[in-house]
Amino acid sequence: MEIQHHVSLKHYNTFGLDITASELATIEHENDISILSEVPDFSTQSLLVLGGGSNVLFSGDYAGLVLKNNILGKEVLKQNEEFVWVRLGAGENWHQVVLWSIENGWGGIENLSLIPGTVGAAPMQNIGAYGVELSSVFEYLEAFELKTGKIAQFNTTDCDFGYRYSVFKGPLKQQFIITRVILKLSKHPTFNTSYGAVAQTLEEMGVEQLTIKDISSAVIKIRQSKLPDPAVIGNAGSFFKNPIVANETLNNLKTEYTNIPSYAFDNSYSKIPAGWLIEQCQWKGYRKGSIGVHAKQALVLVNYGGAKGRELVDLSKQIQASVQSRFGIELIPEVNIV
Ligand code: FAD
Ligand code: EPU
Repeated sequence: MEIQHHVSLKHYNTFGLDITASELATIEHENDISILSEVPDFSTQSLLVLGGGSNVLFSGDYAGLVLKNNILGKEVLKQNEEFVWVRLGAGENWHQVVLWSIENGWGGIENLSLIPGTVGAAPMQNIGAYGVELSSVFEYLEAFELKTGKIAQFNTTDCDFGYRYSVFKGPLKQQFIITRVILKLSKHPTFNTSYGAVAQTLEEMGVEQLTIKDISSAVIKIRQSKLPDPAVIGNAGSFFKNPIVANETLNNLKTEYTNIPSYAFDNSYSKIPAGWLIEQCQWKGYRKGSIGVHAKQALVLVNYGGAKGRELVDLSKQIQASVQSRFGIELIPEVNIV
């Protein structure tokens, strides 16, 4: 396996930031990581695992080793009348896996259509969209432990999934490389059209006999209408998480902002769309030079071309400060700032 030196990562991150990594190696198999981990200074150097680079913001050049995950493979582990268990290489493209699952008539991930990136990063932040999270089909994953060089297994409980969260974003950050993900998909899918926009789009499409392919098509349509395509405008999807506030805080805000949108998170907490908060602070459509806030989705920061990561970090801080000052709410980045 080749280690490249002083490599541009422009095509390895969807913000399209032209930054340089000191070293880059592509891993195609678990053995590649074992071999690399025997290099003498492996454990002391900075290491970053990269999938599709669709949820990272490089604030500057990366002084360390980037491991580009290209572990492939899609196999059926077992099946019964109702379910099929599939084992996926962490470097597989997520959306291609969704399409493969739909072609086979296996349901469970159709609402997660068109999310950029790789299979290995999906459990990292428990990807979610249009009423479904990865955790609902997750069985277990395999991951290489950097400290011991051994492959460990993590089931749903071990992963401690939450909203855009797993243990790999928390206490086990930077300690494991996810190598394989095992999902349990349904041969007799039930349809999730709970997200208002999905039901509405299906109606507009005139769908009579609903299929998982229809749901996927509806989700793709919605996404393409408001999210910028990274191939055209650099971005990393939602920059911040939607804040979760106590119902009491929400009720206080409602006295001043009667039209504030919100969704129940549980009995005591509610989610407020960060896009609405940012739009209220007049950032939607903002542009300064190469950076900006998307005109159709205020939660998405964009690079129109030639931006520096530091400029985007600064913009995100300005947005956080204005939302904090106007609403008293802290916005927490979803994007991993490196
Ligand atoms: P990367 O950006 O390469 O990595 C993300 C993080 O995971 C980094 O910290 C990296 O070190 C770590 N990581 C990656 N692979 C591994 C591995 N194998 N083992 C250990 N750590 C790893 N996300 C959603 O949840 N829902 C959405 O609807 C959604 N929409 C998006 C729309 C657009 C236009 C874009 C650009 C992004 C969107 N995202 C969304 C965010 C992003 O697509 C997901 O977070 C995706 O899972 C990231 O995959 P990736 O392979 O690109 O990860
Ligand atoms: N809104 C505004 N202005 C905006 C954007 C949104 O007022 O500019 C308000 C509207 O009230 C709208 C609501 O926010 O109804 C929700 O907007 P949207 O349906 O676009 O969803 P979101 O909350 O902005 C979340 C996820 C997305 C995911 C969609 C669909 C987070 C941080 N983001 O966005 O995930 O695709 O729901 O489920 O939870 C990502 O994680 O990168 C991502 C794109």
